[in-house]
Amino acid sequence: MASIFIGGAWPYANGSLHLGRLASLLPGDVLARYYRAKGEQVLYVSGSDCHGTPVAVQAIQEGVTPSDIASRYHQEFANCFTQLGFTYDLYTRTDQPFHHQVVQELFLKLLENGHLYKKTIQQTYCETDKRFLPDRYVEGICPVCGSRARGDQCDVCSTMLDPADLLEKTCKICGNPPTERATEHYYLALSHFQAELTDYAAGKSHGWRENAVQLTKRYLEEGLHDRAATRDLDWGVDVPIEGFEGKKIYVWIEAVSGYLSASKQWAAETGGSWEPFWKDGGAAITAYYVHGKDNIPFHTLIWPAVLLGGGGLHVPDRIISCEYMTLEGKKFSTSRNWAVWVPDIMSRYQPDSIRYFLIANGPERRDTDFSWREFIHSHNGELLGAFGNFVNRTLAFIAKSFDGRVPAGELSDEWKQILMELYRDSGALIEEGRLKEALELIFARIRHANKYFDEQKPWVQIKENPEACGFTLHTCAGIIANLANLLQPFIPFSCERIRTFLFLEQPAWKLITVPANQQIQSISLLFERIDPKRIEEEEAALLNSRAQH
Ligand code: MF3
Ligand code: ZN
Repeated sequence: MASIFIGGAWPYANGSLHLGRLASLLPGDVLARYYRAKGEQVLYVSGSDCHGTPVAVQAIQEGVTPSDIASRYHQEFANCFTQLGFTYDLYTRTDQPFHHQVVQELFLKLLENGHLYKKTIQQTYCETDKRFLPDRYVEGICPVCGSRARGDQCDVCSTMLDPADLLEKTCKICGNPPTERATEHYYLALSHFQAELTDYAAGKSHGWRENAVQLTKRYLEEGLHDRAATRDLDWGVDVPIEGFEGKKIYVWIEAVSGYLSASKQWAAETGGSWEPFWKDGGAAITAYYVHGKDNIPFHTLIWPAVLLGGGGLHVPDRIISCEYMTLEGKKFSTSRNWAVWVPDIMSRYQPDSIRYFLIANGPERRDTDFSWREFIHSHNGELLGAFGNFVNRTLAFIAKSFDGRVPAGELSDEWKQILMELYRDSGALIEEGRLKEALELIFARIRHANKYFDEQKPWVQIKENPEACGFTLHTCAGIIANLANLLQPFIPFSCERIRTFLFLEQPAWKLITVPANQQIQSISLLFERIDPKRIEEEEAALLNSRAQH
């Protein structure tokens, strides 16, 4: 058995999730479900990123504490993930003592190993608010591309920034231009890792998405810069060193450490052991990291540097970094309320419809678009029209003509072959993070299965040759049972219902058969047709919500 670690990105607990964010997280759950079905040892963890300036800035804007904001959204995220069927082994949060302790230990290890050093710098300071202004507390113009940017990074050109780099700086709290004051900080000596990380990236990059390969190469070619490891902030993990009271560990080093702290917490809570997923020497480890493209350097450079510098733990193997999803052709924007919020869409549509759309149209290699028209068409056309229809026509026929029992027979040789190849080929694609192609392959076979049904004409066979009809239906029931395995990582809720209809055991990644005479039970439609009128209603509601904002 192999050890498969899957780290899902930690969403900032400063506002609801929108579909674009969800699209970048969902591949983690597909991988986890697939590998568990395959029988591997899986650890899939994530949590809410409760610290850092996004949460602190939101708290100032609402006049509440950062902890109030973090708890509100953590709860909401946890509910969304549960309702969407995410199978995290642990979904935790960074504002807990367990995480703080692991982060502080890692920090001290880095210090002990000589990768942190002290430096006095000039830091942006607001004379009005009487405080230092780290990253997102400052806004201005990106010195590289000229777009509006925050003090931590430019979302347009992906340059990592320091607030001091920005042009035309303003304080996020009061809007005044900040001044500068001297302050002492620890720096992470990323430059120590230049050679090691260059080798690492060159060796691993076959398992990385192309955007990660390119961006990481660019940073390495430009030469790695040492990065501040601490901040003047009052919300976060304390720097465990005398004289640094009131300062906090820089959120990026801290948040990525959540992968390790969550693994240790999972082990502590369940009696499992975290080491097989982090220490090489036992079963082979494959570590997947799943996030959006704005997170790439933190997973391909900073986190590997912390792991190498802090004690030789297993570094990322596969970087599943999504491009962006747009909404009706335009960029998602929280501030302009141009978004489909996850709690909202979940209140009206089935989780499998959402999961299916976000994978089938996932922004794997290039930006893709969510539109209500495509969403509703994909539900009606593919989920209901192809998959639901095949399941329904088969089971309804068995119920009506065979007294609700799967007729005698066996999977035809042709279908046995097709399904075995499908497990092999779609499995290989999933392992490479090519989920969209895997799903397409399976759906091509579903269309093929519908064609088989049409060509066999069981409604004619039943009169002319009942035995042949039984054989057709037996094969179709076998195809359905295997589809419940093959599609389980993608649309688990419908597959679970099929398991009930056919009394199937837990999902596995191998060919299964349905026993002759198997009684089928409680069949009902997997999907209801969505009235296409809803397209216009949803479009109008979206425009309206933007107008009100
Ligand atoms: N909270 C950050 C973001 O949403 C980072 C997420 S992934 C992490 O962009 F592992 F790096 F924390
Ligand atoms: Zn100010």
